[in-house]
Amino acid sequence: MERKWWHDKVAYQIYPKSFYDSNGDGIGDLQGIIQKLDYLKDLGVDIVWISPIYPSPFADQGYDISDYYNIDPSFGTLKDMDELIREAKKRDMYILMDLVVNHCSDEHEWFEKACADPDGEYGNFFYIEDRKEGQELPCNWRSYFGGSVWEPLPGHPEKQYMHVFHKKQPDLNWENPVVREEVYKNVNWWLDKGLAGFRIDAIINIKKKLPYKNYPTDREDGLCDIALMLEDAEGVGEFLGELQRRTFSQYDAFSVGEVFNEKPEELPDFIGDGGYFSSIFNFSTNVWGGSDKGWYDCKRITPDAYKKCHFDAQRKVGNHGFYSNIIENHDQPRGVSYYIPEGEVSLESKKMLAAVYFLLRGLPFIYQGQEIGMENLPVIPVEQVDDISALDQYQVSLDAGFTPEEALKIISLRNRDNARTPVQWNAEKNAGFTQGTPWLMVNPNYTEINVAAQEQDENSVLSFYKELIALRKNPEYKETFVYGDVIPFEEDRHNLMAYHRKGEKDLLVLGNFQKEEQKVTLPSEGKNILLNNYPNAEITGNQVKLKDYQVLVIEL
Ligand code: GLC
Ligand code: CA
Repeated sequence: MERKWWHDKVAYQIYPKSFYDSNGDGIGDLQGIIQKLDYLKDLGVDIVWISPIYPSPFADQGYDISDYYNIDPSFGTLKDMDELIREAKKRDMYILMDLVVNHCSDEHEWFEKACADPDGEYGNFFYIEDRKEGQELPCNWRSYFGGSVWEPLPGHPEKQYMHVFHKKQPDLNWENPVVREEVYKNVNWWLDKGLAGFRIDAIINIKKKLPYKNYPTDREDGLCDIALMLEDAEGVGEFLGELQRRTFSQYDAFSVGEVFNEKPEELPDFIGDGGYFSSIFNFSTNVWGGSDKGWYDCKRITPDAYKKCHFDAQRKVGNHGFYSNIIENHDQPRGVSYYIPEGEVSLESKKMLAAVYFLLRGLPFIYQGQEIGMENLPVIPVEQVDDISALDQYQVSLDAGFTPEEALKIISLRNRDNARTPVQWNAEKNAGFTQGTPWLMVNPNYTEINVAAQEQDENSVLSFYKELIALRKNPEYKETFVYGDVIPFEEDRHNLMAYHRKGEKDLLVLGNFQKEEQKVTLPSEGKNILLNNYPNAEITGNQVKLKDYQVLVIEL
């Protein structure tokens, strides 16, 4: 595997609306990010991915872009963006933007022009088909946010367009080379500005099964899960390879793809040397237990399944490249509220969860607030839910026969608002996020969980993340943590997530994924304890007694 500049880095995701508001309008902004760069640097972060900041009607919180060459005024200006890139460089940090090019906004001028003249040049930028009242749809695919992917074209009831996400997110037609050229031009424009790369949104969806085809339905709506179409559609690699050659590879840029359904044999193409992307996210723990019926039918992951997902992913990727490892992002529940069994969320279990994913092979990503152990919201009234996906799932649950109360409980676990509440900076009003009214409610637990308090406390989750990052970067162990193999240890042991990182050194990570103590026999006597979420460790010879959610990293 060819060595790359980003292999030894630590990445951090910012959801800009909720990060830090510098001007009191209740919305986080670029100046807010600039003001917090030193905080991120001090944490040990190198790469910062910012979720979309382009002009947008915010039907899907900025993932619906109406201008690819500008910054939404609620976040600032292009000048602010240049300043952010400059300020990051000064600190040896790298900025990534979100590349959202499966679709644009219905308020993008391309779509407006397509609506004005569906048979003209811009009509071919989208998937537009004829439509007759009472006639069957071109295909029965269900959009991710509910309902058919087909919607009448505004101003043209005799036509319809495709949107695999929200109807305000029309899909771009990647089969049209002019569309692809537009995308490359835009990507290179940003890279010329000094951007270090991109996180690439929903990219697998750019290849559609053509001609359109129906798949077996799984709900009463007669529609099918779009995943069936994605599995069947061939040739996405041609688009992705072209994108990589025409853009990222020209700049040695870092790119991380949001890819959900990669097949093992495709991994070298995706993230091997010269692959489509530098890395892709490992979502295996996030998608575990999923159901095409809806959230009400999803299973909650157990510690043993969690471990298996990670080890399987590590085996799958082998030496081909690097996954990007996460416990949460802006689409997922807070990791500590989801992966730690109910009733067992504590300082120790939060730290254990942090260490066991962070030290795996791959690029560790931290999502804003994760470093202080932010948690899911309590159950909130449906009127207060902002997330369009949760609102759709509320309806899906009602349709499946659940009471409104049950439906609310179902969506509260996975509601994307959980991760989108403002970062809790201190115990003051609005958690110090804004002087104004926050656009989304602050989690009421901010008086206990906040950055200011944790900065003063060497036992805090924040201090532990700093230790963890410093450990990965320690010159003595870095080679092993970055490039060493992952070798599971006592893989079948219930509620123990343990593995070696083996390279120059042999480092053993032991995570007790339960409250009950657990005894482990080390393969050899430990030389050194490199990390511990307790003040001490009970080790006699090669016998270790792990306490309630204790995690240890031992040099053998
Ligand atoms: C990705 C984003 C998500 C968004 C969707 C549509 O999955 O992470 O937030 O809703 O794409 O752009
Ligand atoms: Ca603001």
